[in-house]
Amino acid sequence: MTILENAPTGLAEEQKVAVRSVYQEVAAEYDERIPGSGPTDEGFTQAERDFVLSKVRAGQKVLDMGCGTGRFTVPMAEAGVQVTGLDISRAMLDVTEAKLSARGLSGDLYEGDMAHLPFEDNSFDVVTSMLALMHIPLEDREAVFAEVARVLRPGGRLVIGVKNGLFEQFFKGDRFAAVDITDVEAKQLLFTKTRGGKDLTAPWYSFTPQDLNALCAASGMTVTHLRGNSTISAWLADEVLQDNGVAGVVRALEKNLGDVPPFNHLGYHILVEAVKPRR
Ligand SMILES: C[S@@+](CC[C@H](N)C(=O)[O-])C[C@H]1O[C@@H](n2cnc3c(N)ncnc32)[C@H](O)[C@@H]1O
Repeated sequence: MTILENAPTGLAEEQKVAVRSVYQEVAAEYDERIPGSGPTDEGFTQAERDFVLSKVRAGQKVLDMGCGTGRFTVPMAEAGVQVTGLDISRAMLDVTEAKLSARGLSGDLYEGDMAHLPFEDNSFDVVTSMLALMHIPLEDREAVFAEVARVLRPGGRLVIGVKNGLFEQFFKGDRFAAVDITDVEAKQLLFTKTRGGKDLTAPWYSFTPQDLNALCAASGMTVTHLRGNSTISAWLADEVLQDNGVAGVVRALEKNLGDVPPFNHLGYHILVEAVKPRR
């Protein structure tokens, strides 16, 4: 029996079944599908990784929600973090498990839904979630942030990366993606060129900075860092970015301006840290 077979029916549950089934299907090829093939993808992925790794320390207990194939779970384990990964797709978790064991690392992996975390109150120092919250049905958003606040210890931190709905209000196409393309109008992630030859879709709802501030506030957390990832390159054409001189200047500016309003609000993705008050 899968974790969703006994779940209540309704649109939110249907959406989660759709999300799970897509990731079950693409798990074995997921790592080849990201990042995209644009001139800034490598720097973009590195910036995400730097952000997450700068927010965790060896020995901390960290929950990676929607951990997928362990793109962030595994480097955190390598950095000495006590990792727990949770994902709605068993096939994605199996890839993470294989990577951890190939490197002689350990981690606790759970198949589950982030709207109902199977953990006790105050269990984690940090909860991370990279590129996964966009799959949550809209009606589950508050429940997920409340669950995060519940399982974090007082003073614990939430660290997330999401696609920026504010950027998408200006730019409707997916700016860098190669094969997994966000269809902003249809609110779907479209998986093209899969090994099975089929195009697959999963529900997808990006977040604006205002959404994130409101969701954190509603769950009693406070945003302490909001960074725009690819805050300048997202707005420039590929031909412009292919010039090494321009790309170098853009990288240097992005490093410094990614944290500064209003540029941080205009990133292609937004990276956020929020804290649960100590009491
Ligand atoms: C785009 S992948 C990101 C994986 C990984 N965090 C990364 O950055 O590569 C999204 C992941 O979120 C998981 N996911 C989606 N909805 C979920 C939910 N409600 N609860 C737990 N995991 C979920 C999917 O199964 C998938 O593995």
